[in-house]
Amino acid sequence: MGRFEEYSLYQANRSFLSSEQVITFTDLDGRLLALKPDVTLSIAKTAQPAPGETLRYYYHENVYRPSAESHTFQEIGQMGLEFLGGVGEAEVQQAVCLAAQSLGQLGTDWVLEVSHMGYLFGLLDALQVPEDARAGLLRKLGQKNAHELRAAALAAGLDEDAADTLCRVLTLCGGYADTLPRAEALCRNDAMRAAVAELQGLAGPLEQAGGAIRLDLTLAGEMEYYNGLIFQGYLKALPRPLLKGGRYDLLMQQFTPGAGAIGFAVYLDELDRLSAPLPPVQKNSTDKVMLNVALPKGRLGDKVYNLLAGIGYGCPEDYNATRKLVVENPAAGIRYFLVKPSDVAIYVEHGAADVGIVGKDILTEAEADVYELLDTGLGKCRMCVAAPADYQDDPGRPVRVATKFVNIAKAYYASQGRDIDIIKLNGSIELAPILGLSDVIVDIVETGTTLRENGLKVVTEFLPISARFIANKASYQFKHAEMDTMLEKLRAQLQNKEEAK
Ligand code: PRP
Repeated sequence: MGRFEEYSLYQANRSFLSSEQVITFTDLDGRLLALKPDVTLSIAKTAQPAPGETLRYYYHENVYRPSAESHTFQEIGQMGLEFLGGVGEAEVQQAVCLAAQSLGQLGTDWVLEVSHMGYLFGLLDALQVPEDARAGLLRKLGQKNAHELRAAALAAGLDEDAADTLCRVLTLCGGYADTLPRAEALCRNDAMRAAVAELQGLAGPLEQAGGAIRLDLTLAGEMEYYNGLIFQGYLKALPRPLLKGGRYDLLMQQFTPGAGAIGFAVYLDELDRLSAPLPPVQKNSTDKVMLNVALPKGRLGDKVYNLLAGIGYGCPEDYNATRKLVVENPAAGIRYFLVKPSDVAIYVEHGAADVGIVGKDILTEAEADVYELLDTGLGKCRMCVAAPADYQDDPGRPVRVATKFVNIAKAYYASQGRDIDIIKLNGSIELAPILGLSDVIVDIVETGTTLRENGLKVVTEFLPISARFIANKASYQFKHAEMDTMLEKLRAQLQNKEEAK
């Protein structure tokens, strides 16, 4: 394939791409072109299968995307296949089985996670979820975020029963054969039953593929493009999925009405990491599976550590008495990394830690792609707009906002339709309006003392904050038993504390 493509193809299908950042240039005839960030879109555009025809494509190409690690563009090797046109049961089975076999070729310990958009769409229809709430609810589901999913469902107008039904999807995650009957039990209409039948048909062929096949109906792809089966493949020791695929008739039909499509891609750059030597911390290995916890240094971290120590995850060494940044208890299968609170989400997203405890403020700001498994309720505070007591908004000019939380502040003011100028600071934010550096601040308020003592007042509160238990998505595939055990004990302990109050 050629390396260039019309930029308009990506502009029209922005959310199909993993990043909106694309390298563009103007050709000699004035057309805006791009270095391809993706192969599937170009294949879907140009294939044009005739009615009834099934085209099968295999590719091994380079694409150009920002790297998740280096924050620079990279040339990334990608290999994949696509079935286009007439796509029936046989093609679906062949595509998914080839994905499983590809993982088997790449490593011994692998997991293929399977979900079905038809099932999720069917459920959203059955529960009469308004269109504009659907993407948000699927996002919460994809984060395994039980505590916010229910509230978001109620806020979207669902009644208690419907919200509970939606939350039950969170339990539809586990071994393929065990989970399927539970998925069947939740069916509410023909669309859901058809999806379960398709998943059932895959059980036999997938069983022969080896590896671990997990059904996880919380996995959801982009609603505008994917309509049926979707899947992701993980290899042990890699922090992100290295294979992604699914049925994308909705995308394909933009180019060829009536055509279907299914395919997957393997991100070859992720494989580089497999040849890297084991990091020092993992060399003192034990037989036990170790859970690596990113613990925020400071008051919140101490609280969380004391909770965990109380349920059997303590370490013999007192981390507050040393300058050591790693403490562990191999017998209990636990290892703590003492990290700066604002870095917790980074360690977890990049797989350096399996789980972590992080404030919702930092998690929201980092937009980290992790599971958010529990609201610990610790470290409660609010994200607020605050200003000098006599402050009055001047709608004739942009508001000057000082903050540590640039993304949160931008999103909040965008939701209000208000232009802003941002001044990014790293601490003592309350100084900015006092010195005339800004009109207002966006910051967390706990007791309100800092505001009061500096002559400021809360203008609006817009985001409740507390510490969340997060997990790396790939680690969860291989250590879900250990994580679930820790979560269950933690939940019980938090409940006891609550009741004792
Ligand atoms: C946070 C926040 C406020 C203060 C709010 O600052 O930025 O300044 O706490 O707490 P209060 O409502 O109980 O007074 P932090 O102590 O983290 O220091 P920082 O100024 O360096 O951000």
